Amino acid sequence: MSMLDGKAVAVTGAGRGIGRAVALDLAANGAQVVVNDYGVAVDGTSPSSEVANAVVREIEAAGGKAIANASSVTTMQGGASIVQSALDAFGRIDAVVCVAGILRERMLFNMGEEDWDPVIATHLKGTFTVFRAASAAMREQKSGTLIGFTSGAFAGSVAQANYSAAKGGIVSLVRSAAAGMHRYGVTANCIAPVAKTRMTGAVPMDFQMGEPEDVAPLVTYLVSDRARHLTGQIYSINGGEIGVYNQPVVVRTMSKPGRWTPEEIATRIDGDLGFERMPILDMIDQMAAAAARKKGAS
Ligand SMILES: NC(=O)c1ccc[n+]([C@@H]2O[C@H](COP(=O)([O-])OP(=O)(O)OC[C@H]3O[C@@H](n4cnc5c(N)ncnc54)[C@H](O)[C@@H]3O)[C@@H](O)[C@H]2O)c1
Repeated sequence: MSMLDGKAVAVTGAGRGIGRAVALDLAANGAQVVVNDYGVAVDGTSPSSEVANAVVREIEAAGGKAIANASSVTTMQGGASIVQSALDAFGRIDAVVCVAGILRERMLFNMGEEDWDPVIATHLKGTFTVFRAASAAMREQKSGTLIGFTSGAFAGSVAQANYSAAKGGIVSLVRSAAAGMHRYGVTANCIAPVAKTRMTGAVPMDFQMGEPEDVAPLVTYLVSDRARHLTGQIYSINGGEIGVYNQPVVVRTMSKPGRWTPEEIATRIDGDLGFERMPILDMIDQMAAAAARKKGAS
């Protein structure tokens, strides 16, 4: 008996990178898998259905069961077709894993609508379209799990305002799905991975990065019946290290009877509320200092 015997799971962006590793691991653990991939370049252009078909062939060659779906997650019809593929082929949908993603990096002051819209559409709307369709079926089944893919970039990133905003949106979407679907026995969780893929090709090599296959067992576990108590969680994973983010809560308050004046706020805020610097700012300052040293030396 395998961990996921009898379960039907749809994985978006399953043709390459992390999604592919997830689809292969789910199938190896007994799940029947919808392999969705629009088969695009890193920037979201040039679609091809061959990418999803190739992973289905890999799963079948290993003795597993899978079907391909080459829809884009960016439309409501695309999201619905992914879930419908599972219902038609396997008669149920136990989990959706929304991995599909693209990148269009620009500094905020150079970012156009043509960079913003497709990134938000693929990540944030593309998670919504699939969650929307799956949640309706799972509500009837009174079981199921929704898994979103965020990124450490949701906490802030230099040239990725579009991507960071989409990934922050996915965190809130997952948390809202966890809250809204709780009464129907449906869970929702999020993964912030780090892995060597074409998407991380530009990241400096001294940064420690695991493999896509390292991420897959966490998804397999979250889909399994062993994880039914977990919902509203954000997990990080890189190689052999799994972490969990804190729940967003107000950490300190200051109060007075009535309304504050700006002067009163200025006098009290540093002492009473404190100021926690964004960790990424230290790295940015160090990089700027190193660049200035290099320029001075040349
Ligand atoms: N690799 C990392 O270190 C890392 C870090 C943080 C977050 N992530 C997230 O993990 C996910 C997977 O990333 P990856 O590194 O494996 O990237 P990848 O580029 O290797 O794979 C992404 C897949 O999504 C597919 N896709 C793109 N647009 C689609 C659409 N509209 N509909 C369906 N499929 C579509 C692509 O064709 C591609 O096969 C992404 O959401 C990414 O943002 C990755």
